[in-house]
Amino acid sequence: MNIIKTTAALTAAINQAKEEHKSIGLVPTMGALHEGHLSLVRRARAENDVVVVSVFVNPIQFNNKEDLAKYPRTVEADCELLSQAGADIAFVPTVEEMYPEPVTTVYHFGPIEEVMEGPRRPGHFSGVAVVVRRLFDLAQPTRAYFGEKDFQQIAIIRNLLEQIKYPIELVPCPIVRADDGLALSSRNMRLSKEAREVAPNIYATLLQAVEMSEYEDVESVKLWVMDTLSSFHEVNGLDESLRFEPEYFEIVNDTTLQPIEDWSDAEGVVGCIAVWLDGVRLIDVIRFRPEEEE
Ligand code: PAF
Repeated sequence: MNIIKTTAALTAAINQAKEEHKSIGLVPTMGALHEGHLSLVRRARAENDVVVVSVFVNPIQFNNKEDLAKYPRTVEADCELLSQAGADIAFVPTVEEMYPEPVTTVYHFGPIEEVMEGPRRPGHFSGVAVVVRRLFDLAQPTRAYFGEKDFQQIAIIRNLLEQIKYPIELVPCPIVRADDGLALSSRNMRLSKEAREVAPNIYATLLQAVEMSEYEDVESVKLWVMDTLSSFHEVNGLDESLRFEPEYFEIVNDTTLQPIEDWSDAEGVVGCIAVWLDGVRLIDVIRFRPEEEE
């Protein structure tokens, strides 16, 4: 595997691949890689001639300086994992290399950014779009791979592709979970041992919400999820430090991302949640009315 640190070297490698008419799979990441990322890399490996994985903690998508400072950085281990997973190129630029000039571009996405993460993380999706477009320009991928845990981000990238009209196939990939159900995330490594043990109750609660959706209305299921998680530590006699603080739980149309009021309001329905636990912000997604039942 080739570890590339400069945009010039990446451009040279991509130009050569293009001359040879090779397909290119791009997996954008912020490093601290886990099985979730590696599942994207393996899928890209299976579907493309050349696999490029970027490892770049993108400062302009963090609206919270502390979160940026605390974001785990494990570049050496990441490169080892990428090499084992069959990547051809690990693109590991510095901030100066990615942004030689101050970034002035701002992207707008309309209603899909006005819900869930959007209002709570001002500037986040524009920052994601800026870096993803830069990566698209540099890697010129045939296909780009993103994990469905960041469900709203996928809708944003789909919209970005419509805005910039690049002929790139967006490949959303399923969430990978630990054996106990916790969605894999680079942020999980910041949880204390005790918090890590409690964290799978987010997914357990979402699974119960899907069962409840058979006989309860949308609003009741939403309230139940928020209440169940907020009171979890108390009901289970746990320490205050293991309190779940749900920021939102929205049940939305999986295409427009707008909240639904009735289960029949959309063909595809997902529940998206953001929860604080032990000073770490965790997100997860669950599908209601799973496809096989449709
Ligand atoms: O999902 C992420 O890890 C990031 O938002 C991405 C897409 C790599 C852009 O920095």
